[in-house]
Amino acid sequence: MNRERKLWHYYAVVGAVLLLALLTFFRQRPPMVPRDEMHRPVLERVAVRTGSQGVEEMCAECHSPQQIPLPSGHPTDGKCLTCHPAVP
Ligand code: HEC
Ligand code: HEC
Repeated sequence: MNRERKLWHYYAVVGAVLLLALLTFFRQRPPMVPRDEMHRPVLERVAVRTGSQGVEEMCAECHSPQQIPLPSGHPTDGKCLTCHPAVP
């Protein structure tokens, strides 16, 4: 491999890393689970640590396409709490 090609690879890698860092920085941050009456039962479950299993199923009871649709392109798998912190 000649010198120019090696250098080109180097620039490509550095560029990709920089782009990724910028994208992460400017990405919309997920809002926290609100500490209101609506979410009190959910937050209480998290506080008691009955294991956060089952808690995320509760989210879907209200945050469903029928009631409160999530924004388009928003993930719908059950991993709500990994992105939305729930502070009891
Ligand atoms: C009893 C119904 C109900 C349940 C269960 C519920 N939510 Fe909500 N959620 C709401 C309603 C209604 C709103 C909009 C009004 C508000 O902020 O309370 C909302 C708003 C939100 C918001 C937006 C807050 C903001 O600042 O824009 C997030 C994030 C959220 N919920 C996450 C969750 C997660 C995660 C769970 C499961 C752990 C969950 N919710 C369970 C009813 C519910
Ligand atoms: C990969 C991370 C991620 C996961 C997983 C995730 N969310 Fe979100 N959520 C976000 C981000 C980022 C936003 C803010 C940008 C937006 O509105 O799309 C958001 C916004 C929201 C909002 C506010 C919507 C509005 O109209 O203001 C609600 C409610 C919500 N999420 C609920 C949930 C629920 C319920 C789950 C589980 C099914 C969940 N989220 C899983 C990242 C995530």
